[in-house]
Amino acid sequence: AAVGKGNYRHFMEKELHEHPAVLGDTLRQMVNPGTRAVVLPELPFDLAGISRVTITACGSAFYAGLVGRYWFESIARIPTDGDVASEFRYRAPPLPQGGLGLLVSQSGETADTLAALRYLKAQGQHVLSVVNVEESSMARESDAVLQTVAGPEIGVASTKAFTAQLAVLACLALAAGRARGTLSAAQEAAMTQALLEVPGRAAEILEHDAAIRRIAARIAKARDVLYLGRGNCFPIALEGALKLKEISYIHAEGYAAGEMKHGPIALIDPTVPVIATVPSGPLFEKTASNLQEAAARGGQVIVFSDAAGAAKLQGIAAETIVMPAVDPFVAPILYAIPVQLLAYHVAVLKGTDVDQPRNLAKSVTVE
Ligand code: G6P
Repeated sequence: AAVGKGNYRHFMEKELHEHPAVLGDTLRQMVNPGTRAVVLPELPFDLAGISRVTITACGSAFYAGLVGRYWFESIARIPTDGDVASEFRYRAPPLPQGGLGLLVSQSGETADTLAALRYLKAQGQHVLSVVNVEESSMARESDAVLQTVAGPEIGVASTKAFTAQLAVLACLALAAGRARGTLSAAQEAAMTQALLEVPGRAAEILEHDAAIRRIAARIAKARDVLYLGRGNCFPIALEGALKLKEISYIHAEGYAAGEMKHGPIALIDPTVPVIATVPSGPLFEKTASNLQEAAARGGQVIVFSDAAGAAKLQGIAAETIVMPAVDPFVAPILYAIPVQLLAYHVAVLKGTDVDQPRNLAKSVTVE
């Protein structure tokens, strides 16, 4: 059956509002709510024996993979590497025995990611795909598939598929942590609990829609926007910047907050909004000091943080969206939502073709 827009103006808006449901559906197939244990489909290899994980993908799916890298390293202590598929496939990287190649793709058809998959296979890696389209080339050619349950995504710029990819990668990291003995049962239960609360928190975040629309009015006037994040929220800064440029055509860059002083700080003046995804957690103070530097140069600092973080940044933030307080482990899943929503509202204000941005394709099946 054809998918409609329902009461929404654009598919992208509808799909943004599907975040809670899609996260719930995706988690439901991988977490036992009774035991709070992650239950993955049977894999044809042992996660305990994986020597290295190599993650490759394109676009937003690659940024999901980058978040996955933080999780595999910190939770399961697996050496993990990642690169965009268009570079990876031609780098001809040597890969260790017993390595796992991990592909992330909504469509399962992106040409560069598919070529990377074939390279990984030829190098004797186990190949696991996180895909949304079950009947896809990547799903067919992989040793195993973990499906995101995002449903059809029509808007060219990925939204709900991205957070569903994160949910799957989080579960995979927990399963790997358990298999490798780097995660105690109590830790797994606490982290799984945090994951199970994500759909509810996602719904709360969508209630900030009007406030985010007000911030969008400010961003719509900018020529350049800088997004900053650290740790597992650094890829969310990349995602925020990508989404903004894709659909509003405003130049944006995502940067690791600590790298700001090695370049982008030179650009900051009162015309440049600096958007920070900065949850409370071990790295909060570090990012706060970067934001302080941005504010001191007249940058309009826009903060996405929880109540405790927002309170600390009150003196320097031009605008703040107060996010739910969550385990830092799940923060990237939730912080993706407001940056996507912000890009959406900026694009609407600019009057662009939100669902079909110029020059972009939903699925890039030619190189
Ligand atoms: C295109 C889309 C992006 C998507 C990327 C990768 O560029 O506009 O939203 O992230 O392709 O697509 P895939 O289907 O492999 O996730």
